Amino acid sequence: MSKEELAGRVIGITGAGSGMGRWMSEDLAACGAKIACIDLNGDQAQITADAIAKAGGTAVAYQVDVRDKSAVQGVVDSVEADLGPIGSWINCAGVSKMVPFMEMEESLWDLTIDVNLKGTMLCCQAVIKKMLEHGGGTIVNMSSISGREGSSWQEAYCASKFGVIGLSESIAKEYAADNIRVNMICPGTVHTEMWDRLKYEYSKKKGFEPDEWQDFFENRIPMHRLCYREDVTNAAIFLLTNDSAYLTGQWIMLAGGDHME
Ligand SMILES: NC(=O)c1ccc[n+]([C@@H]2O[C@H](COP(=O)([O-])OP(=O)(O)OC[C@H]3O[C@@H](n4cnc5c(N)ncnc54)[C@H](O)[C@@H]3O)[C@@H](O)[C@H]2O)c1
Repeated sequence: MSKEELAGRVIGITGAGSGMGRWMSEDLAACGAKIACIDLNGDQAQITADAIAKAGGTAVAYQVDVRDKSAVQGVVDSVEADLGPIGSWINCAGVSKMVPFMEMEESLWDLTIDVNLKGTMLCCQAVIKKMLEHGGGTIVNMSSISGREGSSWQEAYCASKFGVIGLSESIAKEYAADNIRVNMICPGTVHTEMWDRLKYEYSKKKGFEPDEWQDFFENRIPMHRLCYREDVTNAAIFLLTNDSAYLTGQWIMLAGGDHME
């Protein structure tokens, strides 16, 4: 694996204040990449950046709402001014909530689509403009197993994550000849802060106790375990480096066999 290729590379990561965004920020910084830690929660983004600095790496934190076009364009300029030309970008910011379809408020639909899908689009637009100037780059968008398979109580989330796949495939085709590759990671179930919140809603849907959620998935997933931090980081390194040089518009289903095409 070409971890060495990442040394000195400027990588913007949204959702860097929590969960997988934080993991990838820290792990890619450990490979020598310079990380722009971007999150709606500026304090949490700063905690990630501080942890990277403490470990001897380079990172800057930015408080940005990915739904805000001018803020997104502004942060891309700031990242280049602070760290240098952006070589790679990971769109990891996301929200998820489970409610029965008939109880889903329009506001939840709007929030989910705006953060997960529109936010990814706005970041891709801003960063591709820079990548075209630099002669290329690599982008990873976080979709989900829920981007390939519908799930009850998750209509808005699944719609947003299916959308991320259509968006990413389209951008990948449009910029394939410009040396810009766009690929996706579709995690199955990952124990992050997101699941610390979702377990209450999911257990309600399934009719078991909140703390039984992990056992439920470990039984259901063919590999009998959740997706780990290193699974996510390894997939990101593969997609960001020349190890995946001939791949664009593709997704990696990181689900332990829980979903097969
Ligand atoms: N955890 C899972 O099992 C799982 C599975 C499949 C896909 N995913 C996806 O992976 C990504 C990361 O998930 P996670 O589990 O690490 O979630 P998380 O909740 O731990 O982290 C998400 C981060 O996104 C940030 N964020 C939310 N709205 C934002 C906005 N408008 N602008 C900027 N930042 C914003 C949050 O502040 C948070 O720091 C998400 O896109 C999620 O949908 C998660």
